[in-house]
Amino acid sequence: MRRRRIYEGKAKVLFEGPQPGTIVQYFKDDATAFNNQKHGVITGKGVLNNRISEYLMVRLGEMGIPTHFVRRLNMREQLVREVEIIPIEVVVRNVAAGSISQRLGLEEGTPLPRPIIEYYLKDDKLGDPMVSEEHITAFGWATTQDLDDIVQLALRVNDFLSGLFLGVGLKLVDFKLEFGRLWEDDEMRIVVADEISPDSCRLWDVETNERLDKDRFRRDLGNVEDAYREVARRLGVLPDNIPAEPARPKLVH
Ligand code: TMP
Ligand code: ASP
Repeated sequence: MRRRRIYEGKAKVLFEGPQPGTIVQYFKDDATAFNNQKHGVITGKGVLNNRISEYLMVRLGEMGIPTHFVRRLNMREQLVREVEIIPIEVVVRNVAAGSISQRLGLEEGTPLPRPIIEYYLKDDKLGDPMVSEEHITAFGWATTQDLDDIVQLALRVNDFLSGLFLGVGLKLVDFKLEFGRLWEDDEMRIVVADEISPDSCRLWDVETNERLDKDRFRRDLGNVEDAYREVARRLGVLPDNIPAEPARPKLVH
């Protein structure tokens, strides 16, 4: 089916959905890191992230945590509600790793005293700088009320996903969420948007601390595809065969 392309990001393409107020998210195999400086392809990643994100968003929905997810359409696409994306990446950390370890000199793997929430402005030109609540409200990226909702949702997602992953032998070290404003009649609700996958989470094996996430790509650790497959397998959503990425859908003028 030919559809109008709305936006192409680093790992996904968004198309106009079949009904007004819907969007189709197409998951690519492309991977980038360090603000686009490193590029690569992780074969099968799009198929796996589509399944993993579907699974996690559905589970969150069952817990009463609102998300943009509607349903998976096929191997690489899912239907989501159209939302107004809040231009902030919300990172929740349970264990020190990555940028917090560098910034604060914490050894990777050090448990944090409590979950820590950080905000980064979504702006590739600026390299997604860290920002504070003061910046967010002063510049109008979100209101104080929005931020209250975001913090509550982020902590509920963290509690729920930490338990879910622990159940399959994975430690949720940290993850990134995006939120959107969903308008229904005159009411606005903040919902979890984008995706939740090994691209946006750090997941370490509970026994061995082996990294089963995008850090394998970022840090050239090898076995990148296997890590994504292993996460899908543990969640029970590994497809039997992963088809190659089809030719890019055509842009309709
Ligand atoms: P960081 O330690 O590099 O700040 O990353 C924290 C978490 O956020 C980690 O799970 C990876 C995820 N993340 C993204 O999803 N997108 C990004 O652009 C970055 C920098 C991190
Ligand atoms: N996806 C981000 C980028 O391209 C960073 C990352 O996930 O490490 O730059």
